[in-house]
Amino acid sequence: MKKRIFLMRPSLAKEDFDQIKKVLRSKFLTEGDVTKRFEAKIASYVHARYAIATTSATTAIHTALECIGIKGKKVLVSDFTFPATALAVRLAGGIPVLADVDKDTMNITTEIAENSLDDYTRVILPVSLFGNPLERDFYKFRRIGINIVEDAATNLGTKIGRDHVGSLADITCFSFHPRKIITTGEGGMITTNDKRVDERCRSYKTFGKVKGEFIQDGTNYKLSDILSALGLAQFSRLEKIITKRLQMAKIYDELLSKISVIEPQKTTVGGRNTRQSYTCYVTKEHLRDKIREKLAHENIESQIGTYALHRLPVFKKCLRKGSLSNSTFLYKNSISLPMHEELSQDDQELICKIIQAASNQQ
Ligand SMILES: Cc1ncc(COP(=O)(O)O)c(C=O)c1O
Repeated sequence: MKKRIFLMRPSLAKEDFDQIKKVLRSKFLTEGDVTKRFEAKIASYVHARYAIATTSATTAIHTALECIGIKGKKVLVSDFTFPATALAVRLAGGIPVLADVDKDTMNITTEIAENSLDDYTRVILPVSLFGNPLERDFYKFRRIGINIVEDAATNLGTKIGRDHVGSLADITCFSFHPRKIITTGEGGMITTNDKRVDERCRSYKTFGKVKGEFIQDGTNYKLSDILSALGLAQFSRLEKIITKRLQMAKIYDELLSKISVIEPQKTTVGGRNTRQSYTCYVTKEHLRDKIREKLAHENIESQIGTYALHRLPVFKKCLRKGSLSNSTFLYKNSISLPMHEELSQDDQELICKIIQAASNQQ
Protein backbone atom coordinates (compact mmCIF):
# COMPACT_ATOMS: atom_id res chain seq x y z
CA MET A 1 0.00 0.00 0.00
CA LYS A 2 1.43 3.36 -1.02
CA LYS A 3 1.89 6.01 1.66
CA ARG A 4 -1.13 8.32 1.82
CA ILE A 5 -0.34 12.00 1.21
CA PHE A 6 -3.10 14.03 2.79
CA LEU A 7 -4.43 17.30 1.42
CA MET A 8 -4.41 18.83 4.89
CA ARG A 9 -3.34 17.74 8.36
CA PRO A 10 -3.88 20.12 11.26
CA SER A 11 -0.75 21.00 13.18
CA LEU A 12 -1.26 19.49 16.67
CA ALA A 13 1.25 19.80 19.52
CA LYS A 14 1.40 18.56 23.13
CA GLU A 15 0.46 22.08 24.26
CA ASP A 16 -2.89 21.73 22.42
CA PHE A 17 -3.79 18.58 24.35
CA ASP A 18 -2.59 20.09 27.66
CA GLN A 19 -4.68 23.24 27.26
CA ILE A 20 -7.83 21.29 26.38
CA LYS A 21 -7.30 19.01 29.39
CA LYS A 22 -6.94 22.06 31.61
CA VAL A 23 -10.38 23.30 30.58
CA LEU A 24 -11.91 19.85 31.01
CA ARG A 25 -10.46 19.63 34.51
CA SER A 26 -11.94 23.04 35.36
CA LYS A 27 -15.42 21.65 34.52
CA PHE A 28 -16.34 25.04 33.01
CA LEU A 29 -17.08 23.89 29.47
CA THR A 30 -19.19 26.60 27.83
CA GLU A 31 -17.98 30.03 26.67
CA GLY A 32 -16.04 31.86 29.38
CA ASP A 33 -12.68 33.39 30.18
CA VAL A 34 -10.67 31.18 27.82
CA THR A 35 -12.78 32.33 24.86
CA LYS A 36 -12.37 35.94 26.06
CA ARG A 37 -8.60 35.48 26.01
CA PHE A 38 -8.76 33.92 22.54
CA GLU A 39 -10.82 36.89 21.29
CA ALA A 40 -8.34 39.34 22.78
CA LYS A 41 -5.38 37.59 21.12
CA ILE A 42 -7.02 37.65 17.68
CA ALA A 43 -8.10 41.30 18.02
CA SER A 44 -4.60 42.35 19.04
CA TYR A 45 -2.95 40.27 16.29
CA VAL A 46 -5.04 41.73 13.43
CA HIS A 47 -5.01 45.23 15.02
CA ALA A 48 -8.79 45.40 15.39
CA ARG A 49 -10.50 46.87 18.45
CA TYR A 50 -12.94 44.00 18.89
CA ALA A 51 -13.09 40.26 18.21
CA ILE A 52 -16.18 38.12 18.74
CA ALA A 53 -15.85 34.33 18.71
CA THR A 54 -18.51 32.22 16.99
CA THR A 55 -19.06 28.55 16.16
CA SER A 56 -17.82 28.88 12.52
CA ALA A 57 -17.11 31.41 9.77
CA THR A 58 -20.60 30.72 8.41
CA THR A 59 -22.20 31.75 11.70
CA ALA A 60 -19.74 34.67 11.97
CA ILE A 61 -20.88 36.00 8.56
CA HIS A 62 -24.52 35.36 9.43
CA THR A 63 -24.15 37.22 12.72
CA ALA A 64 -22.36 40.15 11.05
CA LEU A 65 -25.04 40.48 8.37
CA GLU A 66 -27.91 40.19 10.89
CA CYS A 67 -26.30 42.96 12.89
CA ILE A 68 -25.86 45.42 10.05
CA GLY A 69 -29.37 44.55 8.78
CA ILE A 70 -29.64 43.32 5.19
CA LYS A 71 -33.25 42.07 5.06
CA GLY A 72 -34.55 42.49 1.47
CA LYS A 73 -31.30 44.17 0.45
CA LYS A 74 -28.82 43.22 -2.27
CA VAL A 75 -25.35 42.09 -1.21
CA LEU A 76 -22.57 41.80 -3.80
CA VAL A 77 -20.80 38.45 -3.26
CA SER A 78 -17.77 36.83 -4.93
CA ASP A 79 -19.01 33.96 -7.09
CA PHE A 80 -15.85 31.85 -6.65
CA THR A 81 -16.14 30.72 -3.03
CA PHE A 82 -17.50 28.09 -0.69
CA PRO A 83 -21.34 28.07 -0.63
CA ALA A 84 -21.36 29.26 3.01
CA THR A 85 -20.65 32.85 1.86
CA ALA A 86 -23.91 33.31 -0.04
CA LEU A 87 -25.91 30.98 2.23
CA ALA A 88 -25.18 33.35 5.11
CA VAL A 89 -26.60 36.25 3.06
CA ARG A 90 -29.83 34.33 2.48
CA LEU A 91 -29.99 33.27 6.13
CA ALA A 92 -29.89 36.96 7.13
CA GLY A 93 -32.70 37.73 4.66
CA GLY A 94 -30.51 39.40 2.01
CA ILE A 95 -30.34 38.91 -1.74
CA PRO A 96 -26.93 37.71 -2.98
CA VAL A 97 -25.75 39.22 -6.26
CA LEU A 98 -22.89 37.16 -7.67
CA ALA A 99 -19.81 38.88 -9.14
CA ASP A 100 -16.79 37.48 -10.94
CA VAL A 101 -13.18 37.18 -9.69
CA ASP A 102 -9.77 37.68 -11.24
CA LYS A 103 -8.46 34.45 -12.77
CA ASP A 104 -4.93 34.89 -11.39
CA THR A 105 -5.46 36.19 -7.85
CA MET A 106 -8.77 34.26 -7.59
CA ASN A 107 -10.26 37.22 -5.65
CA ILE A 108 -12.84 39.84 -6.60
CA THR A 109 -11.02 43.02 -7.69
CA THR A 110 -11.80 46.69 -7.17
CA GLU A 111 -12.53 47.00 -10.89
CA ILE A 112 -14.95 44.06 -10.94
CA ALA A 113 -16.76 45.42 -7.89
CA GLU A 114 -16.95 48.90 -9.43
CA ASN A 115 -18.49 47.47 -12.59
CA SER A 116 -20.90 45.29 -10.61
CA LEU A 117 -22.31 47.81 -8.12
CA ASP A 118 -25.64 49.49 -8.73
CA ASP A 119 -27.38 52.32 -6.88
CA TYR A 120 -29.14 49.83 -4.61
CA THR A 121 -26.16 47.85 -3.36
CA ARG A 122 -24.87 49.12 -0.01
CA VAL A 123 -23.11 45.97 1.20
CA ILE A 124 -20.25 44.00 -0.41
CA LEU A 125 -19.21 40.58 0.84
CA PRO A 126 -15.86 40.01 -0.89
CA VAL A 127 -13.95 36.81 -0.29
CA SER A 128 -10.18 36.94 0.21
CA LEU A 129 -9.27 33.43 -0.76
CA PHE A 130 -6.67 30.76 0.02
CA GLY A 131 -4.53 33.21 2.06
CA ASN A 132 -4.41 35.91 -0.63
CA PRO A 133 -5.50 39.47 0.31
CA LEU A 134 -7.88 41.77 -1.55
CA GLU A 135 -6.30 44.74 -3.33
CA ARG A 136 -5.46 47.59 -0.95
CA ASP A 137 -7.84 50.02 -2.63
CA PHE A 138 -10.79 47.61 -2.44
CA TYR A 139 -11.52 49.09 0.97
CA LYS A 140 -12.12 52.52 -0.61
CA PHE A 141 -15.80 51.55 -1.09
CA ARG A 142 -16.24 52.20 2.64
CA ARG A 143 -15.63 55.89 1.93
CA ILE A 144 -18.76 56.06 -0.25
CA GLY A 145 -20.97 54.52 2.42
CA ILE A 146 -20.79 50.91 1.33
CA ASN A 147 -20.34 48.37 4.09
CA ILE A 148 -17.63 45.78 3.49
CA VAL A 149 -18.07 42.50 5.31
CA GLU A 150 -15.02 40.45 4.31
CA ASP A 151 -15.21 36.69 4.18
CA ALA A 152 -11.63 35.99 5.26
CA ALA A 153 -12.49 32.46 6.39
CA THR A 154 -9.20 31.25 4.89
CA ASN A 155 -7.11 34.33 5.64
CA LEU A 156 -5.95 34.70 9.23
CA GLY A 157 -2.39 36.07 9.04
CA THR A 158 -2.82 37.54 5.55
CA LYS A 159 -1.50 41.06 5.06
CA ILE A 160 -1.69 43.77 2.43
CA GLY A 161 1.29 46.07 2.87
CA ARG A 162 1.73 46.25 6.63
CA ASP A 163 -1.98 45.89 7.35
CA HIS A 164 -3.52 42.69 8.59
CA VAL A 165 -6.69 41.38 7.03
CA GLY A 166 -9.15 41.80 9.87
CA SER A 167 -8.53 45.49 10.45
CA LEU A 168 -9.43 46.88 7.01
CA ALA A 169 -13.07 45.99 6.29
CA ASP A 170 -16.02 47.17 8.41
CA ILE A 171 -16.34 43.59 9.58
CA THR A 172 -14.10 40.58 8.88
CA CYS A 173 -14.96 36.93 9.45
CA PHE A 174 -12.44 34.11 9.98
CA SER A 175 -12.75 30.32 10.20
CA PHE A 176 -11.00 27.82 12.45
CA HIS A 177 -12.12 24.72 10.51
CA PRO A 178 -9.33 22.09 10.37
CA ARG A 179 -8.32 23.10 6.82
CA LYS A 180 -7.55 26.61 8.00
CA ILE A 181 -4.21 28.07 9.15
CA ILE A 182 -5.05 27.34 12.79
CA THR A 183 -7.99 25.32 14.01
CA THR A 184 -10.41 24.89 16.89
CA GLY A 185 -12.06 21.90 15.17
CA GLU A 186 -14.98 24.12 14.21
CA GLY A 187 -15.01 27.80 15.08
CA GLY A 188 -15.05 31.34 13.77
CA MET A 189 -14.22 34.94 14.68
CA ILE A 190 -15.60 38.35 13.77
CA THR A 191 -13.29 41.37 13.97
CA THR A 192 -14.31 45.03 13.78
CA ASN A 193 -13.33 48.48 14.98
CA ASP A 194 -16.96 49.49 15.46
CA LYS A 195 -18.20 49.37 19.07
CA ARG A 196 -21.86 49.12 18.02
CA VAL A 197 -21.14 46.18 15.73
CA ASP A 198 -19.25 44.49 18.56
CA GLU A 199 -22.16 44.96 20.98
CA ARG A 200 -24.78 43.78 18.50
CA CYS A 201 -22.82 40.74 17.33
CA ARG A 202 -22.02 39.75 20.91
CA SER A 203 -25.69 40.03 21.85
CA TYR A 204 -26.93 38.20 18.73
CA LYS A 205 -24.67 35.21 19.32
CA THR A 206 -25.76 35.05 22.99
CA PHE A 207 -29.58 34.71 22.61
CA GLY A 208 -30.07 38.48 22.17
CA LYS A 209 -28.88 39.22 25.71
CA VAL A 210 -27.60 42.67 26.71
CA LYS A 211 -26.25 43.06 30.26
CA GLY A 212 -28.11 39.91 31.34
CA GLU A 213 -31.48 40.95 29.85
CA PHE A 214 -33.07 39.28 26.82
CA ILE A 215 -33.91 42.37 24.81
CA GLN A 216 -33.63 41.37 21.15
CA ASP A 217 -33.59 38.43 18.75
CA GLY A 218 -30.56 36.23 18.86
CA THR A 219 -29.30 32.71 18.84
CA ASN A 220 -26.56 30.55 20.32
CA TYR A 221 -23.29 30.81 18.38
CA LYS A 222 -21.04 30.83 21.47
CA LEU A 223 -17.63 29.17 21.22
CA SER A 224 -16.87 26.73 24.02
CA ASP A 225 -13.80 27.28 26.20
CA ILE A 226 -12.70 23.76 25.21
CA LEU A 227 -12.35 24.86 21.59
CA SER A 228 -10.87 28.25 22.47
CA ALA A 229 -8.17 26.49 24.52
CA LEU A 230 -7.14 24.69 21.35
CA GLY A 231 -7.34 27.99 19.45
CA LEU A 232 -5.09 29.76 21.95
CA ALA A 233 -2.49 26.99 21.91
CA GLN A 234 -2.54 26.95 18.10
CA PHE A 235 -2.38 30.74 17.96
CA SER A 236 0.94 30.72 19.82
CA ARG A 237 2.43 28.86 16.79
CA LEU A 238 0.64 30.85 14.06
CA GLU A 239 3.65 32.72 12.64
CA LYS A 240 5.72 29.51 12.70
CA ILE A 241 2.98 27.68 10.81
CA ILE A 242 2.82 30.48 8.21
CA THR A 243 6.61 30.51 7.75
CA LYS A 244 6.62 26.76 7.12
CA ARG A 245 3.78 27.10 4.58
CA LEU A 246 5.63 29.85 2.75
CA GLN A 247 8.71 27.61 2.50
CA MET A 248 6.60 24.77 1.08
CA ALA A 249 4.90 27.17 -1.36
CA LYS A 250 8.31 28.27 -2.63
CA ILE A 251 9.25 24.65 -3.37
CA TYR A 252 5.96 24.12 -5.26
CA ASP A 253 6.51 27.41 -7.14
CA GLU A 254 9.91 26.23 -8.33
CA LEU A 255 8.83 22.71 -9.27
CA LEU A 256 5.65 23.83 -11.04
CA SER A 257 7.38 26.62 -12.97
CA LYS A 258 8.70 23.81 -15.20
CA ILE A 259 5.17 22.65 -16.11
CA SER A 260 3.77 25.03 -18.69
CA VAL A 261 0.07 24.10 -18.21
CA ILE A 262 0.01 24.88 -14.45
CA GLU A 263 -0.49 28.41 -13.09
CA PRO A 264 -0.31 28.83 -9.29
CA GLN A 265 -2.52 31.51 -7.68
CA LYS A 266 -0.81 34.90 -8.05
CA THR A 267 -0.37 36.91 -4.88
CA THR A 268 -2.06 40.32 -4.88
CA VAL A 269 0.54 43.09 -5.35
CA GLY A 270 2.00 44.04 -1.94
CA GLY A 271 0.36 41.11 -0.18
CA ARG A 272 1.47 38.36 2.17
CA ASN A 273 -0.31 35.27 0.91
CA THR A 274 -0.26 32.73 3.76
CA ARG A 275 -1.05 29.88 1.34
CA GLN A 276 -3.89 28.46 3.38
CA SER A 277 -4.36 26.40 0.22
CA TYR A 278 -1.80 25.95 -2.52
CA THR A 279 -4.19 26.36 -5.44
CA CYS A 280 -3.36 26.45 -9.15
CA TYR A 281 -5.27 26.39 -12.37
CA VAL A 282 -4.62 24.10 -15.28
CA THR A 283 -4.67 25.81 -18.66
CA LYS A 284 -5.67 22.73 -20.71
CA GLU A 285 -9.34 21.79 -20.57
CA HIS A 286 -10.22 18.51 -18.75
CA LEU A 287 -6.59 18.03 -17.67
CA ARG A 288 -7.35 19.07 -14.07
CA ASP A 289 -9.55 16.01 -13.52
CA LYS A 290 -6.99 13.72 -15.20
CA ILE A 291 -4.31 15.07 -12.84
CA ARG A 292 -6.57 14.51 -9.84
CA GLU A 293 -7.23 10.92 -10.98
CA LYS A 294 -3.51 10.21 -11.38
CA LEU A 295 -2.75 11.68 -7.95
CA ALA A 296 -5.58 9.65 -6.36
CA HIS A 297 -4.18 6.53 -8.03
CA GLU A 298 -0.90 7.19 -6.19
CA ASN A 299 -2.83 7.67 -2.90
CA ILE A 300 -2.36 11.45 -2.98
CA GLU A 301 -5.30 13.64 -1.99
CA SER A 302 -6.18 16.82 -3.87
CA GLN A 303 -9.25 19.04 -4.08
CA ILE A 304 -10.85 21.37 -6.58
CA GLY A 305 -10.06 25.06 -5.77
CA THR A 306 -13.60 25.92 -4.79
CA TYR A 307 -17.04 26.45 -6.36
CA ALA A 308 -18.59 28.79 -8.91
CA LEU A 309 -21.72 29.46 -6.90
CA HIS A 310 -23.94 30.21 -9.90
CA ARG A 311 -23.25 26.66 -11.14
CA LEU A 312 -24.71 25.07 -8.00
CA PRO A 313 -28.41 24.08 -7.95
CA VAL A 314 -29.05 26.09 -4.77
CA PHE A 315 -27.89 29.35 -6.42
CA LYS A 316 -29.08 28.73 -9.99
CA LYS A 317 -31.66 31.51 -9.80
CA CYS A 318 -29.37 33.95 -8.01
CA LEU A 319 -28.90 37.46 -9.39
CA ARG A 320 -25.53 37.87 -11.11
CA LYS A 321 -23.35 40.47 -12.78
CA GLY A 322 -21.71 39.68 -16.11
CA SER A 323 -20.78 36.29 -17.47
CA LEU A 324 -18.83 35.07 -14.39
CA SER A 325 -16.47 33.42 -16.86
CA ASN A 326 -13.35 33.48 -14.65
CA SER A 327 -15.23 31.90 -11.78
CA THR A 328 -16.58 29.19 -14.12
CA PHE A 329 -13.08 28.62 -15.50
CA LEU A 330 -11.58 28.27 -12.01
CA TYR A 331 -14.38 25.95 -10.86
CA LYS A 332 -13.60 23.63 -13.78
CA ASN A 333 -9.81 23.95 -13.85
CA SER A 334 -8.44 24.77 -10.41
CA ILE A 335 -6.76 22.28 -8.11
CA SER A 336 -5.55 22.50 -4.51
CA LEU A 337 -2.44 20.47 -3.71
CA PRO A 338 -1.42 18.96 -0.36
CA MET A 339 -0.09 21.58 2.07
CA HIS A 340 0.66 20.84 5.72
CA GLU A 341 3.62 20.44 8.04
CA GLU A 342 3.87 16.65 7.56
CA LEU A 343 4.51 17.13 3.83
CA SER A 344 8.15 16.52 2.90
CA GLN A 345 10.13 17.93 -0.03
CA ASP A 346 10.19 14.37 -1.45
CA ASP A 347 6.37 14.33 -1.30
CA GLN A 348 6.22 17.65 -3.15
CA GLU A 349 8.64 16.39 -5.80
CA LEU A 350 6.56 13.22 -6.26
CA ILE A 351 3.33 15.25 -6.59
CA CYS A 352 4.87 17.50 -9.23
CA LYS A 353 6.36 14.52 -11.10
CA ILE A 354 2.89 12.96 -11.34
CA ILE A 355 1.42 16.28 -12.53
CA GLN A 356 4.17 16.56 -15.15
CA ALA A 357 3.57 12.98 -16.39
CA ALA A 358 -0.22 13.55 -16.59
CA SER A 359 0.36 16.79 -18.51
CA ASN A 360 2.73 15.08 -20.99
CA GLN A 361 0.15 12.36 -21.69
CA GLN A 362 -2.45 14.91 -22.87
C1 LIG B 1 -14.30 31.23 1.67
C2 LIG B 1 -15.02 30.46 2.74
N1 LIG B 1 -16.02 31.06 3.42
C3 LIG B 1 -16.67 30.42 4.41
C4 LIG B 1 -16.36 29.13 4.76
C5 LIG B 1 -17.10 28.46 5.86
O1 LIG B 1 -16.28 28.32 6.99
P1 LIG B 1 -16.78 27.47 8.24
O2 LIG B 1 -16.58 26.03 7.87
O3 LIG B 1 -15.92 27.90 9.38
O4 LIG B 1 -18.21 27.81 8.45
C6 LIG B 1 -15.33 28.48 4.09
C7 LIG B 1 -14.98 27.10 4.46
O5 LIG B 1 -14.17 26.44 3.88
C8 LIG B 1 -14.64 29.16 3.06
O6 LIG B 1 -13.64 28.58 2.38
